[in-house]
Amino acid sequence: MKKILSGIQPSGILTLGNYLGALKNWVEIQNDYECTYFVADLHSITVTQDPKTLHENIKKVIMQYIACGIDPEKNTIFIQSHVHEHAELGWILNNSAYMGELQRMTQFKDKTAKQENDSVKVGLFDYPVLMAADILLYDPDYVPVGEDQRQHLEITRTLGRRFNSTYGEIFKIPDAYISKSGARIMSLQDPSKKMSKSDANPNGFISLLDSKDEIIKKFKRAVTDSENVVKYTENQPGIKNLIDIYACVTDKKIEQIEAEFEGAGYGTFKTAVGEAVADRLEQIQKKYNELNKPENEEFIQSIYTKGAEKAGKYAKPKLEQVYTALGFVL
Ligand code: TYM
Repeated sequence: MKKILSGIQPSGILTLGNYLGALKNWVEIQNDYECTYFVADLHSITVTQDPKTLHENIKKVIMQYIACGIDPEKNTIFIQSHVHEHAELGWILNNSAYMGELQRMTQFKDKTAKQENDSVKVGLFDYPVLMAADILLYDPDYVPVGEDQRQHLEITRTLGRRFNSTYGEIFKIPDAYISKSGARIMSLQDPSKKMSKSDANPNGFISLLDSKDEIIKKFKRAVTDSENVVKYTENQPGIKNLIDIYACVTDKKIEQIEAEFEGAGYGTFKTAVGEAVADRLEQIQKKYNELNKPENEEFIQSIYTKGAEKAGKYAKPKLEQVYTALGFVL
């Protein structure tokens, strides 16, 4: 069976962007592949986190995975820092990566555009190398992610190939698995920016745990334009984004949606999108609230403990293979 691996940072409650760009696809493919999903806690500290909140968020991400439909019996679920080989391989791969190629990463450039070098963290700069280590450690065939991670997948492939050409065929070179729909959900307040859980303005994103009222309010406030036609075009990025979201949650085609709202005002359309999203999230929230009870704490802990054990069984010999290839004494 072909292998899949992916992860999400616990830097907050997951957003509709994380769900439509990643999690929804993970659920759809879980029966066709051997899947490993982890919580990327080591990545999240590239931005300073409040320790107590981070601690809670890590466990909440595991619960959100399961609430979204990831079956813990079928899939390996673990916390990145529990498998120390990630950080170790990250260090090794630092010696295959070049400053120039990391400086060219769009996400790094965007995140640091307004900062002086003295306040840019090395971890943020180096983050794609750790991501490459997360992936190459397990030899997956595919990595299902949203569009924003495509460049990081490219550098993973580059680093894997570079290491292999120096030290022998150690790593499998994986492919990105990016679905056509939902791969780039934009902020509701600024449709030129991706929807992000670290957005300072909560009106920009829908959290998977927002109430129905909040969801509808946020969609009603979504920034659109003055055309007042529900049409899928680059000239109407706000409406285009809402159509994308509606298409993903209802499984309707774009043309069908344009026809459905022909002649209707934006108010009607926005309410319909809000209702559809809230309906979709209702089931997830119900499951999440059941899991998020003190009596289930042990169950959740058993999932990530077993997951780390299983992941470690692959990661440990893989790292030893790398160390041997480098000439280290085991
Ligand atoms: P993160 O935590 O930012 O996002 C997790 C996943 O959600 C997708 N995503 C989106 N998709 C569509 N529209 C959006 N607005 C949107 N926002 C986020 C992301 O593309 C991603 O698939 N570096 C990764 C975490 C990571 C990882 C890995 C992923 C660390 N190691 C190894 C795969 C394999 C990240 O920051 O994702």
